[in-house]
Amino acid sequence: MGSILVTGGAGYIGSHTVRVLLAQGAQVVVLDSLVTGHKEAVPAEVPFYLGDICDAGLVKTIVESQEVEAVIHFAARSLVGESMAKPDLYFYENTAKTNLFVSNLLQLGVNKIVFSSTAAVYGLPETVPISEESPTSPINPYGLSKLMIEASFHWLEKAYGLKWVALRYFNAAGASLDGSIGEEHLPETHLIPLVLKAALGQRDAIQVFGTDYNTLDGTCIRDYIHVLDLAEAHVLALKALDQQSNSGVYNVGTGQGYSVLQVITSAKKVTGIDIPVVEVARRSGDPDVLIAKVAKIEKTFGLKTRYSDLETIIASAWRWHQNNPDGYKSKS
Ligand code: UFG
Repeated sequence: MGSILVTGGAGYIGSHTVRVLLAQGAQVVVLDSLVTGHKEAVPAEVPFYLGDICDAGLVKTIVESQEVEAVIHFAARSLVGESMAKPDLYFYENTAKTNLFVSNLLQLGVNKIVFSSTAAVYGLPETVPISEESPTSPINPYGLSKLMIEASFHWLEKAYGLKWVALRYFNAAGASLDGSIGEEHLPETHLIPLVLKAALGQRDAIQVFGTDYNTLDGTCIRDYIHVLDLAEAHVLALKALDQQSNSGVYNVGTGQGYSVLQVITSAKKVTGIDIPVVEVARRSGDPDVLIAKVAKIEKTFGLKTRYSDLETIIASAWRWHQNNPDGYKSKS
């Protein structure tokens, strides 16, 4: 049995996926630049390579010495706001580097890849729940940087037999159940970590961005999926890759949405803290409702989410934040 190369395995979703793979007996190798990842998040027994996905020599060394047979590719920049300010960075880091990386993998005889894509490829959806057939029209460079890779895979499949799955994540959330690894972005922009930082008193309040959306309580609705369920989706996708017919794009969510106010109410209940809330203006570029249609991934890969109820998501994230109020010790 060969090993699975996980790029970005020191990042939020990558590090949880590494643990799920190990628990299922897989051989795992991590390649991470630690620009946004955390070495501490990678178990000591996993071979770790510090470096960049576009370092062809390093990739060759890893593939040959570790007998890599498939890749899960997380390594990327993932902040929507940053992508608006620096689109060139996103097209270089996410699109150009992935193209080079995959081209090198194919030359080395590795033709199976599970790729981190995003619901941001859909932009402002015309209908919800959003199916994989919905039009793609990203409204930020982050979404476009990922969509271009999906499109390139289609042609790499035709030309070289690439077997690929692009997982379009909705809102990844939560932490490992023991609270030992979790979510830390610098800067943090995501709702659940910010709510819990307010609960810890590290922020004065949680700001609610807009209360005049076309939803039941006026705040935006998102489809939150526990990071462990998301991790499981990668493992199932990997198993399914031996059949070429499974190549393609798959939504990963729960099919159920919660509003910003529902998330805050649940966080108050889980933490027992009356978290201060401030209503402010809308953040630009936020669609009213983003909910995934999940029939395709459920039917094809048999994904069943186990941890994605709001309470389990928030309780696990709360354990992580309480155990690690300053996040990871090393900032890389
Ligand atoms: N929100 C607040 N206050 C905050 C932070 C967020 O009210 O302090 C709101 C946002 O306006 C949004 C919701 O909480 O309505 C969720 O916001 P997040 O920033 O947590 O997540 P997004 O839905 O904006 O983004 C997620 C991923 C992106 C991905 C996008 C796809 O984090 O990487 O979904 O649509 F691009």
